[in-house]
Amino acid sequence: MILSALQLASLAVCAWTATATASTGCGKDLPDGVVPGADSTNVTIYSGGIERSYLIHLPANYTAHDPVPLILSFHGRTKSASEQEDLSQFSNASYNTRAIAVYPQGVANSKGVRQWTGDPDAPANISDIAFTSDLITNLTSSYCIDASRVYATGKSNGGGLVGLLACDPTTSAQIAAFAPVSGAFYYGVLGAANDSLPACDPSRSPIPIVEFHGELDTTIPYDGRGPGGRGETAPVLDWLHDWVERNGFEIDSNVTTSVCQGTGYPEVERYSWGDGVVQHYWESNLNHTWPATYANDDDKSGNYTTCYDGAAVIMEFFENYSL
Ligand SMILES: *[C@@H]1O[C@H](CO)[C@@H](O)[C@H](O)[C@H]1NC(C)=O
Ligand SMILES: *[C@@H]1O[C@H](CO)[C@@H](O)[C@H](O)[C@H]1NC(C)=O
Ligand SMILES: *[C@@H]1O[C@H](CO)[C@@H](O)[C@H](O)[C@H]1NC(C)=O
Ligand SMILES: *[C@@H]1O[C@H](CO)[C@@H](O)[C@H](O)[C@H]1NC(C)=O
Ligand SMILES: *[C@@H]1O[C@H](CO)[C@@H](O)[C@H](O)[C@H]1NC(C)=O
Ligand SMILES: *[C@@H]1O[C@H](CO)[C@@H](O)[C@H](O)[C@H]1NC(C)=O
Ligand SMILES: *[C@@H]1O[C@H](CO)[C@@H](O)[C@H](O)[C@H]1NC(C)=O
Ligand SMILES: *[C@@H]1O[C@H](CO)[C@@H](O)[C@H](O)[C@H]1NC(C)=O
Ligand SMILES: *[C@@H]1O[C@H](CO)[C@@H](O)[C@H](O)[C@H]1NC(C)=O
Repeated sequence: MILSALQLASLAVCAWTATATASTGCGKDLPDGVVPGADSTNVTIYSGGIERSYLIHLPANYTAHDPVPLILSFHGRTKSASEQEDLSQFSNASYNTRAIAVYPQGVANSKGVRQWTGDPDAPANISDIAFTSDLITNLTSSYCIDASRVYATGKSNGGGLVGLLACDPTTSAQIAAFAPVSGAFYYGVLGAANDSLPACDPSRSPIPIVEFHGELDTTIPYDGRGPGGRGETAPVLDWLHDWVERNGFEIDSNVTTSVCQGTGYPEVERYSWGDGVVQHYWESNLNHTWPATYANDDDKSGNYTTCYDGAAVIMEFFENYSL
């Protein structure tokens, strides 16, 4: 059967809304200053005994009566919520017209560097996993959110945190799908041995997860960061294969797709398991860069553009999964 563009569009609408679970925030007035479709608002919240902040952007057609998905997008180490908003583009109606986009901000450590739990230098007395759980609880009780469609993405250390959220028994039950970009998956953090990743105990299976990583990444290298730096990271394929097996798939059962074939862009291969539940984008020409067809904050030179935009591909991935 061949579907018309209109039929495909209506299928897409159904996929996003088929299973909506209205949150307790439905029916509530918007907080002061938060206006649908307008520039994002800086909001503060108390969690873990300290003040935290995030930027929030609502889709233009948000109402208190239509539950919408929620996307959390975490910045990289040293970066800010505002930079992540610009980099990841989930407040841009060219990519996202239906989900609330929230950009949480990390706490600065004693050296003044903003980062997240999972980085070796992150303050041990702050749990960004607990903060994320609190934040989801607060947002779902303040806005009309489809509680079955809460998603997490992030860059670098923010991607590493997304990996930890997928592993945590509480947040893995709150978040439907996970999308780390250039993820920094450190050994020896959260009580793990110095040659091991932290414990991973998701409360459900399978966990939908997609990771994007550039072969030319010199910050969080594809084959892992060795000794001598600020901490060692796992080879991306080791981390990925743990998820393949944890989700019950055979490593050799992957379907490989040449993503940029015929576009004139250098090669990108997508590896997919379980009909897409686990995916990985190996990007032959990307550095430590959020994938985009245009120069961005990670790639001011425009040297590392590719045939797709991260926001578009991540939106398509999230659409397929709900709790
Ligand atoms: C969410 O956090 C905001 C900001 O701190 C606060 O005003 C509000 O009462 C919280 N909402 C809920 C439902 O906890
Ligand atoms: C929100 O504003 C406060 C006060 O200016 C600032 O310290 C914080 O970094 C801002 N947060 C975000 C997420 O931009
Ligand atoms: C939104 O995305 C479009 C398409 O990539 C781009 O042309 C535009 O500059 C973006 N807007 C902002 C504010 O970044
Ligand atoms: C908001 O607008 C988008 C884009 O037109 C549409 O796909 C979506 O279904 C709308 N959402 C609601 C709640 O009407
Ligand atoms: C964490 O520990 C540092 C250093 O002892 C201290 O300055 C800070 O206030 C503590 N933060 C929290 C949230 O307890
Ligand atoms: C890692 O742990 C092993 C065994 O305890 C130890 O020999 C080694 O020096 C440690 N390496 C680092 C970088 O701390
Ligand atoms: C990747 O980016 C880093 C930091 O900007 C730079 O030092 C390095 O040379 C780049 N690597 C390649 C292969 O272009
Ligand atoms: C995909 O499966 C092949 C065997 O069919 C295996 O050699 C390869 O390592 C797998 N790719 C990844 C990225 O795991
Ligand atoms: C971009 O590519 C040019 C030419 O290959 C190179 O000289 C320059 O260092 C690159 N810039 C970055 C930021 O990697």
